Amino acid sequence: MNLPKVMVTGGSGFIGSHLIDALLPDHEVYVFDIVPLDKAPNLMDAKDHPHLHYTVGDIRDPAALRAFWIPDAEVMYHLASVVGIKNYIADPLTLIDISVIGTRHLLEIAREYNTKVLFTSTSEIYGKNPAIPWDEAGDRVLGPTSIDRWSYSSAKAVCEHMLYGIHRASGLPFTIVRFFNAYGPRQNPFFVVSQSVYKALRGEEPLLYDDGKMTRCFTYISDIVQGIIAAAKNPKAVGEAFNLGNSVETTMKEVIETVIQETNNGTSYRIFDTQKEYGKVYEDIPRRVPKVSKADEVLHWKATIQVREGIRRTIEWARKNEWWLEDGRNT
Ligand SMILES: NC(=O)c1ccc[n+]([C@@H]2O[C@H](COP(=O)([O-])OP(=O)(O)OC[C@H]3O[C@@H](n4cnc5c(N)ncnc54)[C@H](O)[C@@H]3O)[C@@H](O)[C@H]2O)c1
Repeated sequence: MNLPKVMVTGGSGFIGSHLIDALLPDHEVYVFDIVPLDKAPNLMDAKDHPHLHYTVGDIRDPAALRAFWIPDAEVMYHLASVVGIKNYIADPLTLIDISVIGTRHLLEIAREYNTKVLFTSTSEIYGKNPAIPWDEAGDRVLGPTSIDRWSYSSAKAVCEHMLYGIHRASGLPFTIVRFFNAYGPRQNPFFVVSQSVYKALRGEEPLLYDDGKMTRCFTYISDIVQGIIAAAKNPKAVGEAFNLGNSVETTMKEVIETVIQETNNGTSYRIFDTQKEYGKVYEDIPRRVPKVSKADEVLHWKATIQVREGIRRTIEWARKNEWWLEDGRNT
């Protein structure tokens, strides 16, 4: 029996690798990533799967993308991106090149073959909109361009504009999913949950940013993956954007305290003063809460794993995967 074919960019990353694990049993999965397979520990379990087809390439290179393209694939899951505030503050040109220029190349080819694009966007799109919870059609409220953190939001927003525009002009099918603080096993240890687990298991102090009162709606990776696939497969999702986020708000302090309790090895946290460390180019968002009714009504999707359980699963996985706890992975 011929299995449906799908393409995934950024497949060796955190979310991409879990998405691939979920797709492999009943799809031929064609992956395009800048990282060679033998340097992709996230795909350790999947790498010899007969349905996995892996191409090393850079989405900034249109010829490489074109050579990779599978014309009869049912979906292009587009995940390749620079992530992590530290990374886009350090190198805004690479962020723009990969997100904006790379996505532009990808969309030109998708338009040529009329391939459905599932675009992975972010809750950062809404910026600091005070009208919580954030509706998919809500405003984007951003700070000045002198604040570096808005570059990621703006880069992703340009990609979303390209998608809506090409869809209207030439009917290209697309769906956008906006993730709210995805976390879980394999995530690079420089996000709040992953970094706290990494540090606590190494006997180091997790970092509490400022007063820790900021809230996020942490969304466990298995929920994220189910939401991505539901969005890609549902014909009613074409031309639409969906928040994929937990509706439960948790403070940063609660998350870090939960990690400390669940790792149970006597560490405490250290305060990280963002203005001192990052200076004026940094600005944080006090609350980030999704409106979740659209995903529920159209995709029949809801986050099901709550923070303590997700943290427990992440810790359990990290204890068994020593490579993830090696020195220097959180820089
Ligand atoms: N993790 C989150 O909480 C979160 C939140 C919002 C949005 N997202 C989005 O989800 C997607 C996946 O994020 P992630 O957390 O898995 O990040 P990740 O860094 O783990 O994965 C990104 C992948 O993209 C690949 N990549 C980077 N540049 C490339 C290039 N030029 N060509 C080809 N491949 C390239 C990387 O090698 C990596 O495998 C991204 O688009 C990100 O913006 C993630």
